[in-house]
Amino acid sequence: MTSPLALLGGTPAIASPTPHFTWPPLTDKTAESVLGQLATSISIYDRSGIVAALEDRLREYFGVKHAVLTSSGTAALHSMYAACRILPGAEIIVPAYTFFASVTPLLQLGAIPVLADCDANGNLDPRDVARRVTACTYAILVTHMWGTPADMDSLLTVAGKHELRLLEDASHAHGASMRGQKAGTFGVASAFSMNGPKPLSAGEGGFLLTDDDDVYYRTLLHGQYNKRCKNELPPAYHLARYADTGMGLKYRIHPLAAAIALDQLGHLDDYLTGRARIAAYMCEQLDGLPGIVVPRRGENVRSSWYGLILRYKADELEGLPIERLYDALKAEGAHEVDRPGSTCPLNLLPLFQEPGALFPRYEGRLNYAPGDFPCAEEIHRNTLKLPVWHRDEDIQLVNCYIRAFRKVITNYRYLLG
Ligand SMILES: Cc1ncc(COP(=O)(O)O)c(C=O)c1O
Repeated sequence: MTSPLALLGGTPAIASPTPHFTWPPLTDKTAESVLGQLATSISIYDRSGIVAALEDRLREYFGVKHAVLTSSGTAALHSMYAACRILPGAEIIVPAYTFFASVTPLLQLGAIPVLADCDANGNLDPRDVARRVTACTYAILVTHMWGTPADMDSLLTVAGKHELRLLEDASHAHGASMRGQKAGTFGVASAFSMNGPKPLSAGEGGFLLTDDDDVYYRTLLHGQYNKRCKNELPPAYHLARYADTGMGLKYRIHPLAAAIALDQLGHLDDYLTGRARIAAYMCEQLDGLPGIVVPRRGENVRSSWYGLILRYKADELEGLPIERLYDALKAEGAHEVDRPGSTCPLNLLPLFQEPGALFPRYEGRLNYAPGDFPCAEEIHRNTLKLPVWHRDEDIQLVNCYIRAFRKVITNYRYLLG
């Protein structure tokens, strides 16, 4: 019996040329902004020009007092932790399931990341956080995974009860919100990446938000030394004398990256509206396919749809391994289907199992192992990720992907054994 599946010699469901998804959308206007910036200045040492313009737009968009642009999301996270005065030995409860850069800057500061498991959405589980609070806990870091806001009501309750600082990594969630409140505005401070595929992209870059003046000044001291510190630290501020050197790190954004991001920010809400429409369509079309569970969004939650996360249930396809399903989808030409690799439970990474060879101070102090976080590991193992397109003209391609899923799942028996 011959199989229609491309993996077994059939004709692929998708013939369109690749890439099927590119991000961010770059237009002549983007090019104009970058060329305009090129003609103006490619090195900015203080809060002026494109840096001030973008920070002001971010402050306005998020409704916060301070925004500081950085060279990357990792830099924003490092500055956020340092500015929140996270000291060696402090325990910070962090998601087991996140991109590792949410947590690795803590290792630079000598703090102890305490991993906690996730809920069914892949977001930090407030109940597991509560179980891991000790007398040494100083803060909680939450990531809004794949653009869906975490359960902030419960996390704020836990943080409030134990007088902990709540910090956010909103790198997947630009413009996402809960009851109208934007991700990145719940905690004392938040950090965002603006690298390539992020909902708000600068190519490379990041930023930090806070309403707290002391966190703001310390952020400047951490990564924006000299001119910016001199201009902005009030002379009476007790650390103003360090303005020349700050803490010695330079995390400034490149002005050309800022020009890209400023252009993109003007379109962010339109992108998210388009993505929400297409995500709803994709979920409706894939819902009910055996083996596939589509995400359910809570009431009053707006996702940035950084990814459409499908959960695979092998038992509905007679135990067909996810690897086989994935290979079959790829063979059908569904090249954008992804099994996230580096965004994974941190306990699966050598850095969190045996960090001692790279960070001697952690020898014997961090020794996570596979099996420690069953929910995160189960989600990671059984996740298929699709990008979410945002333009109506993308629907044809979206339909090709839906056809590929239907074809493979309808014919899954050919893949068994
Ligand atoms: C959740 C999360 N945090 C932090 C980062 C790090 O950001 P960057 O690559 O801009 O340093 C990323 C990047 O992918 C991320 O996904």
